[in-house]
Amino acid sequence: MKEWSREERYRVLQSPEEIRELYERIKRSPYRQRYHVQPVTGLSSDPNGFALHKGKWHLCYQWGPWGAVHGLKYWYHVTSPDLIHWSNEGIGLAPDRDYDNKGAHSGSAISVGDELYFYYTGNHRDENWVRTPWTCAAFLDAEGKLRKLPEPLFGPRPDHSEHQRDPKVVWNAEKGRYYIFIGAQTLDKRGCVLIYESERPLTGWRFAGELKVPGYESFGGMWECPYITRIGGKDLLIFSPQYTTLPGRGNSTNHNVYFIGRMDYDTLTFTPDGPYRFLDFGFDFYAAQGAANVNDPQKAILISWIGLPDNHYPTEEEDWEGSMTLPRELRIRDGRLLQTPISGIEALRGEALPDEGRLPEACELELEIPAGDFDLALFTKPDGSGGMSFRYDAASKTCTVDRRGMNKRFNPQVFEVLDVPLENELRRLRIFIDRSSAEIFINDGEATFTTHSYPEENEHWFTHSPAAVRMWALSASVTDEFVV
Ligand code: FRU
Repeated sequence: MKEWSREERYRVLQSPEEIRELYERIKRSPYRQRYHVQPVTGLSSDPNGFALHKGKWHLCYQWGPWGAVHGLKYWYHVTSPDLIHWSNEGIGLAPDRDYDNKGAHSGSAISVGDELYFYYTGNHRDENWVRTPWTCAAFLDAEGKLRKLPEPLFGPRPDHSEHQRDPKVVWNAEKGRYYIFIGAQTLDKRGCVLIYESERPLTGWRFAGELKVPGYESFGGMWECPYITRIGGKDLLIFSPQYTTLPGRGNSTNHNVYFIGRMDYDTLTFTPDGPYRFLDFGFDFYAAQGAANVNDPQKAILISWIGLPDNHYPTEEEDWEGSMTLPRELRIRDGRLLQTPISGIEALRGEALPDEGRLPEACELELEIPAGDFDLALFTKPDGSGGMSFRYDAASKTCTVDRRGMNKRFNPQVFEVLDVPLENELRRLRIFIDRSSAEIFINDGEATFTTHSYPEENEHWFTHSPAAVRMWALSASVTDEFVV
């Protein structure tokens, strides 16, 4: 694995020409995605600034131009008319001010009338590498480019650690106020969320207090990327707790969880209806963010990074890694979150393919499963051996995904085998495979499983126990153009 010096990781991009050769090289990789947003070069991580504005979806991702390494972060901007077809727009935010000199870190967006506002963390470091996180804002100008405000909105709280970032802005009509939720850490290293409020989107911000989540005063060491929304009269709080292991999640110290409950803006208390739950049970899923301005009180739209902090992926050798998930629709039914692939994705389907064991590199599978145990293996060799197995044990209502059978193995010290406990019997799977990922939607969204997968030439087959299978190759919907 290549060793990067701090200088290399934090090098400022002076001209697109410096990375053109990298782009020309990686675009030929067999693992470049066909219908998922992926980094133009280098590394993509968290989704940022996701909103619908004047009929167009805007999304940015944390971008490291130089290679598959975390260092100086930019926002890279993509847009879509329908959340399925995406175009590269170029750099959204560059770390070009003193207050964000070591990175434009994660954040959110909100459309207000004719304006689209962005909120992000300016990651400043001084010559001794001491960090000051600033909460900063930008807006979309008439040319469709992000323009920064001259000054940050506010600085960090001295009564919390340097980990204060990832502003999520929301409008609360009852209070007539905007709120910003900031992922944070207390001085004694407990994860938490700080809340700011203002009557106006770009001025007048004041600290309101720390979010209280009864029962979760000590849950992980930092809550990254908070997201809050209301669906069907319930509040949904999502965040990515880190610096802790959690039951059922191997040795991973990075997680993405949610609560359904009630947010009280008078007392700044989120009261969960039940225990935390994993947003996705897969190997590679983190920093999920919902879109603003979805304008449907019954659903939210979520997108996430396929990847984890501190982990390494096989395309690192090719100097790039990461991808966004498909956008997914979130609904709440009987107090449980249901997640389904973005509607309209069926438009990418080609002719239905026969269930003869061959797995196209970009495809969708639908399986209707009879009662009882069930076995599926994806990415097997032509003789059905190897691959990533998906086993359902009817007695315990548990699915187990095991990726140890694939030629390219990665992050074995974190996990290669994970369980998905179900409430209901397994009856239905909907699986989206792209050239370096697989997303499995179980029982119409009762649970999901997202993973990177890097099949080699001899790993494009699948096997399964009796089930009704429908399969389609999916066409490309994301332009992979060099726009910087
Ligand atoms: C989550 C995260 C955020 C931060 C960003 C930096 O993956 O650590 O908390 O803003 O990545 O790239």
